[in-house]
Amino acid sequence: MKKIGIVGAGTMGSGIAQVAAQHGHEVYLFDTKEAALEKAKASLAKIMARLVEKGKISEEQSKATQSRIKRGSDYVQFNNCGLVIEAIVENLEVKKSVFNSLENVVSNDCVLASNTSSLSIASIAGSCSHPERVVGIHFFNPAPLMPLVEIVPAVQTSDSVLKNAQTIIDSWKKVTVIAKDTPGFIVNRVARPFYGEAIRIYEEGIADMATIDWAMKEIGGFRMGPFELMDYIGNDINYTVTETVWKAFYYDPRYKPSFTQKRMMEAGYLGRKTGRGYYNYSEGATNPEPDKNEVVGEAIVWRILIMLINEAADALHLNIASAKDIDLAMTKGVNYPKGLLAWADEKGIQNVLDGLDKLYVAYHEERYRASVLLRQKAAYSKRFFE
Ligand code: NAI
Repeated sequence: MKKIGIVGAGTMGSGIAQVAAQHGHEVYLFDTKEAALEKAKASLAKIMARLVEKGKISEEQSKATQSRIKRGSDYVQFNNCGLVIEAIVENLEVKKSVFNSLENVVSNDCVLASNTSSLSIASIAGSCSHPERVVGIHFFNPAPLMPLVEIVPAVQTSDSVLKNAQTIIDSWKKVTVIAKDTPGFIVNRVARPFYGEAIRIYEEGIADMATIDWAMKEIGGFRMGPFELMDYIGNDINYTVTETVWKAFYYDPRYKPSFTQKRMMEAGYLGRKTGRGYYNYSEGATNPEPDKNEVVGEAIVWRILIMLINEAADALHLNIASAKDIDLAMTKGVNYPKGLLAWADEKGIQNVLDGLDKLYVAYHEERYRASVLLRQKAAYSKRFFE
């Protein structure tokens, strides 16, 4: 079993290191900051202690996992790694320089991966002397708990590197999907309307946040409402992802960010982490109660759902991933109650298309244009899954 290298001992790097160590790999966890390495060590010890306490793992397993991870700031230690995953700050220039440093020490057959959420894998690979060995391996937060991993080949990535990467991550009992190297990959692209359309409904005064959250949970079956989820993710992070995807798609109005969320970010109402977001999380605070009107609730869910289905259909149309992988990504990466394409089949593709066309006619906004794939499927009475 080959040694795994991780660059960056922050939220993602330390989580990925844990997963690799739990699956028997020797791990070298690298960070330029000693404090980050110390923090990663302490937090792993805490997580392991909790797992032992809950009876999920034995004391021996806990010790073995912890002892498999070595930490430091010395690139030479990557020399005998089979795979190195980079999870440092989201900055292309800094990532490029890390990949160059890695290429100076790793063996010829070592796979170099980036956990980037928003940068193109091609641009990272392009800075390497062996770009064919570079691939995206995109985990979700928290890495030890979220089953999905998007594997993203760049145009330069060789088939064997892609296959190797997927085989290793599959062996860590993750659900892997292959995504094209395009902004947001699968999940961060297809999920945009969950937030954006919810905010739009709120901005238009159709319903307040509590009502929208209630509808999406109680009627839609989602685990969290959009506003609760944005508060959980952090309005700064969620806004930045939306803005990045929008810019990366050459300002396609479908992904346009909202002033509502921008103002939340500017006000420092970031969500749970600052005690205040769309909701107030301070002790004794009262938050609005939902208006549990079923008719309004159904309309809210339908509008957000058809926008999500439209994104999923368009991602399929543009070969971002297979229908199966798009549905797996949304159920395993963001816990959607059903895959969006299977959901479209269930609701009737013609109905989904009619809903989108109605919005398009009403608003005359590009945001509501239906994917041509939905139109084709509806015209020939086809389904996504036969
Ligand atoms: P973080 O800020 O928690 O950790 C980044 C770590 O990298 C820090 O410990 C920092 O000291 C270290 N670092 C910075 N520059 C370095 C360098 N040149 N060499 C070595 N170490 C360096 O960041 P986080 O959230 O773990 O994100 C890391 C990457 O994962 C980013 O590319 C991000 O887009 C991606 N990602 C983040 C997710 C999240 O929910 N936080 C989810 C999926 C991907």
